[in-house]
Amino acid sequence: MLESIEHYAKEIDAETFFDGFSGTGIVSAFMRDKGYSVQGNDLNYSSYIYGSVFLRGFDPSVISQHLKVIANLPPISGWITSNYSGTRARQIRGTGGVVESRPLGYTVENAKIIDSAREYVHSITNISEEDRNALVFSIILAADKVFNNSNDQKSAFKVWSKQSLEKPLFAAPTLIKGPKGVQHIGDILNLKISSDVAYYDPPYTHGVLYASCYHLNDSIAKWDKPLLDDSYAIPRPEKVCFRKNKQKAGGFYNKESATVAFETILANSDCKRLIFSYSDAPRNTLSIEELVKICSKKGTVRVESRDHKICTQPKQMKKISEQLKEFFIIIDT
Ligand SMILES: C[S@@+](CC[C@H](N)C(=O)[O-])C[C@H]1O[C@@H](n2cnc3c(N)ncnc32)[C@H](O)[C@@H]1O
Repeated sequence: MLESIEHYAKEIDAETFFDGFSGTGIVSAFMRDKGYSVQGNDLNYSSYIYGSVFLRGFDPSVISQHLKVIANLPPISGWITSNYSGTRARQIRGTGGVVESRPLGYTVENAKIIDSAREYVHSITNISEEDRNALVFSIILAADKVFNNSNDQKSAFKVWSKQSLEKPLFAAPTLIKGPKGVQHIGDILNLKISSDVAYYDPPYTHGVLYASCYHLNDSIAKWDKPLLDDSYAIPRPEKVCFRKNKQKAGGFYNKESATVAFETILANSDCKRLIFSYSDAPRNTLSIEELVKICSKKGTVRVESRDHKICTQPKQMKKISEQLKEFFIIIDT
């Protein structure tokens, strides 16, 4: 999909690119590498870290020095170890109350290594924001590799996976070359966007609420040690327990609010070309036809599609379809 996105930007000789839902930062990184002047934005703090590292870079020699120190730190028991390590007895859903001891996110040994690395990065003085962000990114990547689940941070496998028994390894994030860019953090609905091209890859369904799915990345990024609700398979910060708090996620996650949200983005975008990514998965908030109809009010619309493998999940999870189409909706204003 990255090559297609660049192709759509090239078609109109764009120089500036806005990545409105930057997530992992991969699209921003790719476009910067191709020479575009990139701005990114996302609601989540961890995405702010990824985007900042990809768009502003870091000093590799500083990072390598600190990574050497981190590799030799004594493990300590801290916030991750207390809340996310070892096994815990809990009621297993759908069993009528059977209690079993199940693994949490990390082995105790690994959690202590991650705690020690994160406390060290928190304590460094005399470091640029770029370099600190790069070290935080490195810890998130290392922690993610040994987390006892392959897709999100809401649950863990029944037994320790092979990867979760490996030792966390801290490596420098990829250093991207190209014009320096800017990463924003916040609700896209509050931004006025001005760029040659804006690319929007919004959430498609309330089934993937990013703040709940990747809460640990956000907690490690921010290191604010939030209050947790322990009743979930993996403890979750209270502020992202939306259903329990009787809060609607709103925005792109709910049918009622999605149309207004898309209309707001379109109204706030002062761009030659807008590109939306969306799929035809049955549970999506809007159908592709509904989204195309909304976009048609802004300019000339072209729709292109790619066959895509459905999001890979463990076999035991019931998939509702085997494949899906990923669409690009390209709007020339
Ligand atoms: C489909 S993902 C984007 C993935 C991204 N293109 C990538 O390559 O990693 C959707 C993203 O939208 C973000 N998001 C959800 N609601 C938002 C909002 N109102 N404003 C800004 N970002 C939002 C989520 O945090 C998530 O990272």
